[in-house]
Amino acid sequence: MRIENKPGYDRKLQRGKRIQITVNQKSIFAYEGELLSTILHCEGIRVLQRKHRNGKASGIYCGMGICYECLVKVNGVPSIRACQTQVVEGMVISTDIVEQS
Ligand code: FES
Repeated sequence: MRIENKPGYDRKLQRGKRIQITVNQKSIFAYEGELLSTILHCEGIRVLQRKHRNGKASGIYCGMGICYECLVKVNGVPSIRACQTQVVEGMVISTDIVEQS
């Protein structure tokens, strides 16, 4: 779910160009400049990886690049922090992956 206009706020939201990305083999749209964590949250995806030791789920926690709980696979590259990565046209993202040991 995305907010198109903020209630009680006169100015229109300014966004980057609308682009297509793939999340877990599903094509979705995003706006240039958005963070992966924002898009995944909008799509209702809360589990981004699982701990290799016990299978516990983890997802967005600090939102500022410190905790490493939001790791996803981007274009085949594992351990990318969703909260620190901006989307790019054609990006392919996988979530709910087992963390790299
Ligand atoms: S949510 Fe903590 S590093 Fe991304």
